[in-house]
Amino acid sequence: MRHMLAENLVAAEAVDDYLAAQEQKSLLRFLTCGSVDDGKSTLIGRLLSDTKQIFEDQLATLERDSRRHGTTGDDIDFALLVDGLEAEREQGITIDVAYRFFSTPKRKFIVADTPGHEQYTRNMATGASTADLAIVLVDARQGVLRQTRRHSIIASLLGIRHIVLAVNKIDLVGFDRAVFEQIVAEYMAFSKDLGFASVVAIPMSARFGDNVSRRSGETGWYAGPTLIEHLETIDVEQDACQKPFRFPVQYVNRPNLDFRGFAGTIASGSIAQGDEIVVAKSGKVSRVKRIVVSGGDLAQAVEGQAVTLVLEDEVEVSRGNLLVATTARPHVADQFAANIVWFDEQALLPGRSYILRTETDQASATVTELKYRLDVNDFGHVAAKSLEMNEVGVCTISTQQPVAFDAFAENRATGAFILIDRLTNATVGAGMIKHALRRADNIHWQSLDVTKDARAAAKQQKPAVLWFTGLSGSGKSTIANLLEKKLHASGRHTYVLDGDNVRHGLNRDLGFSEADRVENIRRVAQVARLMADAGLIVLVSFISPFRAERRMARKLMGEGEFIEVFVDTPFEECASRDPKGLYGRALSGEIKNFTGLDSPYETPENPEIHLQTLGRTPEEMVDVLEGWLRERDIADQHYDDGGGI
Ligand code: ADX
Repeated sequence: MRHMLAENLVAAEAVDDYLAAQEQKSLLRFLTCGSVDDGKSTLIGRLLSDTKQIFEDQLATLERDSRRHGTTGDDIDFALLVDGLEAEREQGITIDVAYRFFSTPKRKFIVADTPGHEQYTRNMATGASTADLAIVLVDARQGVLRQTRRHSIIASLLGIRHIVLAVNKIDLVGFDRAVFEQIVAEYMAFSKDLGFASVVAIPMSARFGDNVSRRSGETGWYAGPTLIEHLETIDVEQDACQKPFRFPVQYVNRPNLDFRGFAGTIASGSIAQGDEIVVAKSGKVSRVKRIVVSGGDLAQAVEGQAVTLVLEDEVEVSRGNLLVATTARPHVADQFAANIVWFDEQALLPGRSYILRTETDQASATVTELKYRLDVNDFGHVAAKSLEMNEVGVCTISTQQPVAFDAFAENRATGAFILIDRLTNATVGAGMIKHALRRADNIHWQSLDVTKDARAAAKQQKPAVLWFTGLSGSGKSTIANLLEKKLHASGRHTYVLDGDNVRHGLNRDLGFSEADRVENIRRVAQVARLMADAGLIVLVSFISPFRAERRMARKLMGEGEFIEVFVDTPFEECASRDPKGLYGRALSGEIKNFTGLDSPYETPENPEIHLQTLGRTPEEMVDVLEGWLRERDIADQHYDDGGGI
């Protein structure tokens, strides 16, 4: 049983083998979505069984297992066939995307079995990204749920154009036509604006097989197709080859000096020998000399084919580039608007830096603006400062370098991206690009003649950013103030950026939510960078509680310029000092989101300087700092005799 299931859980590469074997039949990719108990696994098990994908001995095992674990008495529990993983059996939910293959005489199918549990939107989005059709399962007793709506919206955002509304467990409502029609009416009203090309509703019982492959004797009032009939005949062709040529370069193939080819899979359109192409980002134009595949050369290739292209000219092309038709070029921009589906338990925060990955390219990216969150019940636009797990919103994204893309509505392959958390490396969101923003189009970096080095030399110092982080009341400002006095006295050019002060002006619009703190640090990091660019030694004194933003600040500065100073004072000590009376008020519940109490402080992992303040005076701390700076030629050797420069 387990062995067979392992075989059913096939890795993506196996898709190609499967396709090769059944070349002549058309392929339909679909996914199933629904809530936990809607019967997805049962339906997939039923499809596999009815299309004879289960062999007799496996059926015997299944019968045995059904009696042991199942929930269907002496009948076969098809869910067991699909919910193969031990953990899933224990929890009674499906936890990962599994691709399963089956075929009928008319067509072959790949089904992405995606979990219905509320927190597993990520897997659903993964499964949906290549699907042509989604089966949205509804329990006839429950009707259209919040999950049904959410999944339908995500399916629509991910470009799925065909829906089957499977009204399952129709046996449990006595095959009642009125129940079916009421659910269909509700779903149709809800989904009319989602842009689906077809929505076909089928009353069924996955458990007993009614209207799956066998027309039910109990639903005489239903004249439509069975599920299999519909899946076998639905036309999902999307004239893919009419789309402009898009070829993301996966790698540069250079086995010897005589051969240089660009390997990848054609994302859309077609290409022939002699066709003109352009490298999207650089605008360099060339022609296709050869289209190489393992068996030899092709005269022409189309979407989905993996090929190596050899060009006429020696143009600069590297991994991540997009080769495209010269007559239909994609956008190349560093700002665009996108729909985002958020997967992660940690909310999406505007201002935070993520890694954005397209089909092949990658760039540092931030959400500069969260325009709104989508209400899954009525499509309302809800003002939001962050996107929580499973939420969908429209954002403005800004990338550090330009990326090449199409609007998702025009091309699912080149219009999509994922966002990756820098610290955990987890995929935290999926994005569908709406359009490029012209905002940054006409803004170029102006190069100036007086350089950072020249400004620093005029001040006879090395610019630096001393970044003091620690709890409120830990002593950051006191230490920064003392250090600045000494540096200033010795002729250094300095500036202190202090959280409380900056929050009176530049950041007066920000509070203490996670989102606001992220923006607070983003702005102050940018200011510190400008000041360092002006040649100053900057002392930044902000709680800056999150690692992600401190890391972002570090990256903004020049090599060796960012000096993280962890002012390490235990919470209890800060609370007992309570210089501003804030701890008292926070502890009594009067101040919310207080750092160290109901808002987290993420301790620095590798600060340049770690100051443990307990039992030591601010002057002692400053001595430590000065020693450190002196060793690196940032501070002067002779403060005490006032020698200065
Ligand atoms: S940060 O977290 O966004 O870096 P910042 O350093 O700017 O904070 O501001 C912290 C100062 O704001 C504290 O020193 C304290 O005086 C004040 N403050 C007011 N409310 C809070 C709060 N809820 N949490 C922390 N500090 C607060």
